[in-house]
Amino acid sequence: MSTLSASGATAKPATTKISWGKTPDGEQVYLYTLTNKNGLEAAISTYGGAVVSLKVPDRDGKLADVVLGYDSLDGYVNDKSYFGAIIGRYANRIGHAEFTLDGKTYKLAKNNGENTLHGGIKGFNKAVWTAKEIRAKDGQALELTYLSKDGEEGFPGNLHVRVIYTLNDANELKIDYSATTDKNTVVNLTNHSYFNLSGAGSGDILGDILMIEADKFTPVDSGLIPTAELRDVAGTPFDFRKPTAIGARINEDNEQLKLAGGYDHNFVLRRKPGAPISLAARVVDPKRGRVLEVWTDQPGMQFYTGNFLDGSAHGKGGIAYTKRSAFCLETQHFPDSPNKPSFPSTELKPGERYHTTTIYKFSTEK
Ligand code: GLA
Repeated sequence: MSTLSASGATAKPATTKISWGKTPDGEQVYLYTLTNKNGLEAAISTYGGAVVSLKVPDRDGKLADVVLGYDSLDGYVNDKSYFGAIIGRYANRIGHAEFTLDGKTYKLAKNNGENTLHGGIKGFNKAVWTAKEIRAKDGQALELTYLSKDGEEGFPGNLHVRVIYTLNDANELKIDYSATTDKNTVVNLTNHSYFNLSGAGSGDILGDILMIEADKFTPVDSGLIPTAELRDVAGTPFDFRKPTAIGARINEDNEQLKLAGGYDHNFVLRRKPGAPISLAARVVDPKRGRVLEVWTDQPGMQFYTGNFLDGSAHGKGGIAYTKRSAFCLETQHFPDSPNKPSFPSTELKPGERYHTTTIYKFSTEK
């Protein structure tokens, strides 16, 4: 595997900060850009902690921005697609917008039919995070912190959240999430980057070759809430254990694909016993030769094919983002875990520390 530098040049690793304007509430927002020695660039906004752009080289060393998003803060303030954002307090869905913890039922904000999606009406993607450049031994790093107050969107406990983005010289964007609470609560954090490895706005991703390290997935009901079954991928369009084009089976007559209008499902990741972090997925863009690997310590990963993108969101350069013009690989705990006792627990108690790491690693293939 090669970690190509952009046109072979050595860039100076650096972090820059610019003012990115104010939210409608008057809160100041900044945009930080991390650059590694190979010239890769990750721009991160303190609004939603969003990865606004991610420039990586193709097989000829040519950089392109491989994530969907907007040119300015405005776009993110009005966004309904969660482009690039940090998602919390509970990524993905919680059925009927409620859960019971220690005998008490917590009613959450409903923002997806009867359900709660991605933390509620004002999730972490709509918060202004406090940023600090920090020293990291392995690259350029930015720390973002946010206090999610007791009762926010219905969740119990003051949750102190810290997310560290590190761009290292191995062409990895590493995301470390941690959190502590002062009351028993539930936590599930992820990043909602939409990738198009040929470049944001450059057509659909159906020809990309995807491998997912999962023998099972969690089938859903019509509200996209898991039924609690762990179903074998074998013999279904959900089998990506061998690298397969994303579009090869997406229009098959399959009940699960029909319910979601494509892929929008949580995969049960295989774990390498003893390893702190395992390969979850690998995607190859045959057009430009870019390769993305996702490594994580999380039990699940939502694979979403941008089924709800309908061209109404105009992104960078004014381009309309159409259906299936990107894919998301959201590492996470399983959706609706607070209501599914058989799923790995998402509870966090005072005195404990939530900590999880995901790496998006870029390379190229001929
Ligand atoms: C997640 C969900 C999708 C959709 C997108 C955002 O991936 O699973 O159903 O809501 O977020 O549009």
